[in-house]
Formats: sequence, C-alpha cells, structure tokens
Amino acid sequence: MTATNSGSGFTMPRPGSAAAAGPTLALPEAEGADMHAAGTAAEGPLPVGATVDLASLGSELGIRRPLDQLDEQLVGLETVKRRLGEIGALLLIDRLRARYDLRSPRPNLHMCFAGPPGTGKTTVATKMAEILHALGYLPSDHLVTVSREDLVGQFVGHTAPKTKAVVQRAMGGVLFIDEAYSLHRPDNERDYGQESIEILLQTMEEHRDDLVVILAGYRDRMDGFFSLNPGLRSRIAHHLDFLEFTVDDLVEIGHRMLADQGYELEEVAEPVFRDYVARRRSQPNFANARSIRNAIDRARLRQAARLVAAGGRVNRDSLRLITNADLLASRVFAEPEVSDG
Ligand SMILES: Nc1ncnc2c1ncn2[C@@H]1O[C@H](COP(=O)(O)OP(=O)(O)OP(=O)(O)O)[C@@H](O)[C@H]1O
Ligand SMILES: [Mg+2]
Repeated sequence: MTATNSGSGFTMPRPGSAAAAGPTLALPEAEGADMHAAGTAAEGPLPVGATVDLASLGSELGIRRPLDQLDEQLVGLETVKRRLGEIGALLLIDRLRARYDLRSPRPNLHMCFAGPPGTGKTTVATKMAEILHALGYLPSDHLVTVSREDLVGQFVGHTAPKTKAVVQRAMGGVLFIDEAYSLHRPDNERDYGQESIEILLQTMEEHRDDLVVILAGYRDRMDGFFSLNPGLRSRIAHHLDFLEFTVDDLVEIGHRMLADQGYELEEVAEPVFRDYVARRRSQPNFANARSIRNAIDRARLRQAARLVAAGGRVNRDSLRLITNADLLASRVFAEPEVSDG
C-alpha cells in the first residue's frame, strides 16, 4: 500500500487529538537512509533497534483516511466510532509487529450491528469494507448485502448451493446479512434456515482470513437469535450497538443532508425544523436518519411546488432555500400519529 496522506498521522478515536507529526522511522543512520532510498518506509522488515512513529505510519499506510472520513461523515455513533478506532489501532500494531518478526494471531473481525431502523447500520457496513481493505485486512473493499431469501432455498437441496454462492460472491470482502434472525424460523420444523446458518458458521471459522461477516438487525430480535444459536454468538468478536439519535444529532444530520443536496434552511426555519424533528421522533414508525431523509425529500417537493405556484423570476438563492412554509405544511404539525411526513 502506498502513502495517501500526510499530516498528523493516525489518531484514535477522533481527529484533533493527533500526535505531532514526525519521521516515520528513526533508524541507525545507514539503515535508515537505505530504507528511505528504497521507498519502503512503511513496509518491510525492521531491525530490532529501529523505532517507528505510529502517527506517521498510520498516514503513510492510508489507515487514517477512511476512519477520519467515517468520523466526519457520520453524526453521533460515538461507541461505534470508538470501536472502529480500536480495531484500526490493533491492525496497525499487528502490521508493525510483523515487521519486527513478532507474531500476532489474525484477529477475528466478524461483527454484529444491532440497533433500531435508520441508525446507520448499512451505512457503517459499507464503510467497514473500505476500512478493512485500507487496513490491509481484506483483499477487496466490496460488500455483499443479503437477506434470508438470498441464502435460504424453498426446497430440499437448494439452500446449500444458494448460501455457498453468496459466500463465494462475498469472498475477499464483507458479507452483510440484514435481519439475520429471519434465518431462524423455530415455528417451522421443515425450514431450511438452519442449514444456511450451519454453512455460515463453518465459513466464518474457515475463512477468517478472507471474509468478514456482519450480522445486522434489531437488538431484541438479535439477542433472541443468538440465544438459540450460541455457536454464532461466540464466533462474533464485535457486538456493536447503534443507538437512537438525539434531537441534536438528527438536526445535524438534516443540515448535512440538505448541504449535500445543495439546499439550506432559511434562518427563521431553524427552530421550526428542530420542532419538526422532535415531534417526528416521538411518533410511531420513526426511522431515525432515514425519516430525516424522507422529511427533506418532502420539503424539497413543497419548495418546488411553492416556487412554481408563485411563478415569476427565481434566482440561485431561492432555488437553494427551504423556508418555514416548506416545513410547516408537514402533517407532523397537524396529526401526531402520521408516518413519514
Ligand atoms: N450517523 C449518520 N450520520 C448521517 N447520516 C446517517 C447516519 N446514519 C444513517 N444516516 C443516513 O440515514 C439513512 C439510513 O441509514 P442506514 O440505511 O445505514 O440505516 P440502517 O440502520 O441500516 O436501517 P435499517 O435497520 O432500516 O436497515 C441513510 O441515508 C444514511 O446515509
Ligand atoms: Mg440497513
């Protein structure tokens, strides 16, 4: 892997606490000069007496970038980010240990992402594939997302080839199994889900080097699933909890989504948006960040309708602006029990 970053080096778990940049290697004169001349500062064996600056090494290996991106792009999720920072640190240290000829067992990185709808499980899984690839843990950064129907067949003999084909497709990257508990249907004796689970268990054990499996779903259903499949629970090293977002987080997520799409809230609409978020959050069927995305889609619709109905001339600013009226027309302000509005 080549250097993709310069600056203050690898930090954990958030940027801003970076160690000062320094030379990656501090070697006895002659050896140091040789290594830099050969362009192998971040790779290759190290003499026993060599010292290495971790921050700069993290940057040189390109480890910092995907972790920082995750930190910057995703609001909240502090415990998730902290754990990813720790995993990043472990993989960096393992790589460095190998250069000093210190053996490290390959870490188990199978994971479970548990949490309510719209809290970023799928989004983080996508980033995870990129991060593990950048850290040199996985040969590829691809993510294969599947659910029950992709893994389990309808007839005798269908499930094994189906599950194996999925595993084959994901090999080298991340296999993300959404609503993993749907694999288990205890009420149906003739269900083939268990057959798929057995194959997945075996794969997780045998292919730890070239496949990371992430199971995702709601916390209580995941717990029930694991209690019926203890073998699965014990093969998962990282159980990450995705929590409901706070109103502050949701408002921030809304602002970022608007900015990404080239919109902004007019200043007087700020408290209205916060009020919207607080009301929507307490309604049934609230799906965290996804509901915010839907709310923004509706606001854009209303903005367009408002501008077209008003007729006359528009400018760039008026095309960018979401106003009070675009938010207040939402049913959230009228009917407390409606779904996404
Ligand atoms: N922390 C976050 N910061 C900003 N945007 C986020 C964050 N988490 C999720 N989103 C956005 O919210 C939407 C829903 O996220 P995602 O699909 O990852 O949730 P999920 O937990 O997988 O939901 P589900 O349980 O329903 O599958 C996406 O558009 C995503 O970009
Ligand atoms: Mg999802």
